[in-house]
Amino acid sequence: MCGIVGILGKHEVAPIILDALKRLEYRGYDSAGIATVNNGALDRRRAVGKLINLSDLLVHDPLRGKSGIGHTRWATHGGPSVANAHPHQAGRVAVVHNGIIENFRELREELSAEGASFSSQTDTETIAQLAGSLLEKGRSPVEAARETLARLKGAFALAFLFSGEDDLIVCARRGSPLAIGHGEGEMFVGSDALALAPMTDRVTYLEEGDWAIITRSGAQIFDAEGHQTHRPMNRINVEETRVDKSGHRHFMAKEMAEQPAILQAALGFYSGLDHDGIDLPDGLGFAATDRLIMVACGTAYYACQVAKYWFERYAGLPVELDIASEFRYRNPVLGDSNTAIFVSQSGETADTLAALRHVKGQVAQVVSVVNVMTSSIARESDIALPIHAGPEIGVASTKAFTAQLQVLAVLALRAGLDRGHLSEAEFATLLAQLRSVPGYVAQALDREEEIRLLTESLSQARDVLFLGRGVMYPLAQEGALKLKEISYIHAEAYAAGELKHGPIALIDKDLPVIIFAPHDALFEKTVSNMQEVMARQGQVLLISDAQGFADAGEVPTRLQMPAVPEFIAPFIYAVPAQMIAYHTALHRGTDVDQPRNLAKSVTVE
Ligand code: AGP
Repeated sequence: MCGIVGILGKHEVAPIILDALKRLEYRGYDSAGIATVNNGALDRRRAVGKLINLSDLLVHDPLRGKSGIGHTRWATHGGPSVANAHPHQAGRVAVVHNGIIENFRELREELSAEGASFSSQTDTETIAQLAGSLLEKGRSPVEAARETLARLKGAFALAFLFSGEDDLIVCARRGSPLAIGHGEGEMFVGSDALALAPMTDRVTYLEEGDWAIITRSGAQIFDAEGHQTHRPMNRINVEETRVDKSGHRHFMAKEMAEQPAILQAALGFYSGLDHDGIDLPDGLGFAATDRLIMVACGTAYYACQVAKYWFERYAGLPVELDIASEFRYRNPVLGDSNTAIFVSQSGETADTLAALRHVKGQVAQVVSVVNVMTSSIARESDIALPIHAGPEIGVASTKAFTAQLQVLAVLALRAGLDRGHLSEAEFATLLAQLRSVPGYVAQALDREEEIRLLTESLSQARDVLFLGRGVMYPLAQEGALKLKEISYIHAEAYAAGELKHGPIALIDKDLPVIIFAPHDALFEKTVSNMQEVMARQGQVLLISDAQGFADAGEVPTRLQMPAVPEFIAPFIYAVPAQMIAYHTALHRGTDVDQPRNLAKSVTVE
């Protein structure tokens, strides 16, 4: 997703905006640009590729001015190019935008008919051209911006900058988050608090539909109906927004390594060691719930798949599971005793947010499990549960996955108690197992060197198959997704029992098959599937525990995990799913933290 920064400052803003954009790199982008007002005139620099290219441009051709806007673009309409990079300018106005303008073609035709000439393929340029034409017709900058906003359909976060206006930024939020930062005689705008943290810890989050007039003396905020309103100023914990690699080579490596400590700390928010219960926000319970609906995307969806097994086994609660982009289009049947749970690391995934809005008012309670409590999904839920994973910068989600699992596990145990499906003793046993997870995850992380060696040959593969049964099936899917998204090797996952229904045709001596199989109730069946693969010269890597290897017979390649109770196995097997992808990507030399084509949070549908 794109990143937006704006500054009405006391100093030359271009270098400061560039630094702020660097803190938004994790969102994924393919071009960037900055516009400033210098002696009343708008000036602009844009570059394709990484921010270093824009930085080089600014060294050779500096941008002056103490007010400016900046942008990192993740291409939607129109490929990565200087012409398509933001800020877009039309006459006396420059604009940066995150989102999609759904009626841009209609507006483009209207403006072209009035003589506007477009220089890009983007929807964003239409915004600039519309505001520019209104300025030409005599509107003031604020009026031009306000009337432009009224014409737009779709989702956006926007910031306008005007020539001749050194002390004015107009910004708006509709479907994509935007925050206002308060300085001393300076004001800031940013897509999130991470971008603003070096400049201020006083942040106001715009609400859905808000727009604001910002000058160095402050911000006037107007709601969707145009009424001036007040939004609270928050103090952000700048320490929590620290985004550095802490000595690791990549953010992904740091975030994998953080998992034991994060899981240990996060569980404490839901079940302190000083008592044997689970603390959930008042009002959240499952005694009256007749069905769970769980909706998410990508890795978060696989966390929900694991949780489905837990809710059904330990709470006897039926679970309906959906990929967010499919959910509302199947016309789901909803009931007023249902609980809907939306899982999202960023809390801004457009598909998941749209699914949440679809169920509001139709179910008993809307719960979200998120890593960003100021996010749209958190704010629009009845109850938002933080996973306390800290900022996750690597595009490939790792610590957020295991932290999501932890909160979902806590919810499943609580549901088991609420519904009388778990005795106090069974609950206590399972909670104790949950408390043991950080130690076991640390043991799994200790197999890194073995995994690095194993992935040398894997990195030469063209295709890879992941197999698992039961809760290991979503883990196989997570492993396939991780491998795909950072090493660019085609990988897919199957329920191991499904192999003989077609996919076994793929097996030959060139196909690596990675099998997740702790020694659990399904182990024997999974080993049978493994033998079917080996009988056809498939290159098997079996990930199991000591008992598993004792019973599996001859296995070509193995990776041993600690033996753990079935309930917590998903946490431990998440580590090889993550690390196999990470080291394969290293062998292949891909961009681990910002893989091609991907954004950290997909805020467009
Ligand atoms: C996971 O590694 C991917 N980056 C992606 O699938 C991600 O999980 C998905 O886009 C959902 O993001 P969210 O958790 O922020 O909603």
